Amino acid sequence: VGATNVVAVSSTVYVIGIGSGDPEHLTLAAVSALQKVDVVFVIDKGEVKEDLVALRTEILHRHREPGSYRVVEAADPVRDRTTPEYTAAVVDWQDRRGALYAEMVAGLAPGETGAFLVWGDPALYDGTLRLLADIPDLDVVSIPGISSVQALAAAHRLILNRVGRPVLITTGRRIAGGLPADVDDIVVMLDGGTAFADLPDAEVADVDVYWGAYVGSADQVLAAGPVLEVRDEIRRLRAEARERKGWIMDTYLLRRRPADR
Ligand SMILES: C[S@@+](CC[C@H](N)C(=O)[O-])C[C@H]1O[C@@H](n2cnc3c(N)ncnc32)[C@H](O)[C@@H]1O
Repeated sequence: VGATNVVAVSSTVYVIGIGSGDPEHLTLAAVSALQKVDVVFVIDKGEVKEDLVALRTEILHRHREPGSYRVVEAADPVRDRTTPEYTAAVVDWQDRRGALYAEMVAGLAPGETGAFLVWGDPALYDGTLRLLADIPDLDVVSIPGISSVQALAAAHRLILNRVGRPVLITTGRRIAGGLPADVDDIVVMLDGGTAFADLPDAEVADVDVYWGAYVGSADQVLAAGPVLEVRDEIRRLRAEARERKGWIMDTYLLRRRPADR
């Protein structure tokens, strides 16, 4: 009796970083990946961030002929933020998201390739690669993008590290309790407010901030200076921008000044 070889047909899915607001920040590798794919998967996060949708649409229009690809949309599962069972709620939410991604990818016909277009860089505060990693028989290709951190650095003409020194990338929630003592250059993302501005004066007396909202886009707003001097201005700019557009995405570098300056 001859052996039967069962060969699983695997699909390829590209996870493409599309930059953080400037369509010119798309890499050449991202463009060639985009031009290869049959299906673009779109996760609707239910936010009023039309600009995010607009960037995605503009990129597709610039680099693909209309009608030469399919778009498959699905709504991102909603996380239960009311329960006190935080961990259980997050696990449940991640499971539902995983099931959704698996279902979307399963819709690829044999030989078709798909793409998830990810804001900024897929390697930074984005769960797409993690969710796809759990799907069997799927070749996942990650195409890096210009993250909001790089866009912020460029907008302020910054070098993020100082010579031979580390840089920490963290969240607003993490710095709300205080700045780490052993790092002098801290990039803060995912801050629902202005955590740096609420820190005690003594903690930020020797700290400069380089702040940017909607960085890379036509609506970019920037501000920089010693925290104690510019924090109220940044609070005001942030509140105004948020009011005007209905949403905000901002990132900032906190940089401790050397003791001898
Ligand atoms: C879910 S994370 C996604 C990060 C993304 N993968 C990246 O590489 O930039 C969202 C956070 O990224 C930052 N962000 C994204 N786009 C931004 C922009 N254009 N300007 C400033 N901050 C931005 C904000 O800190 C926001 O809270």
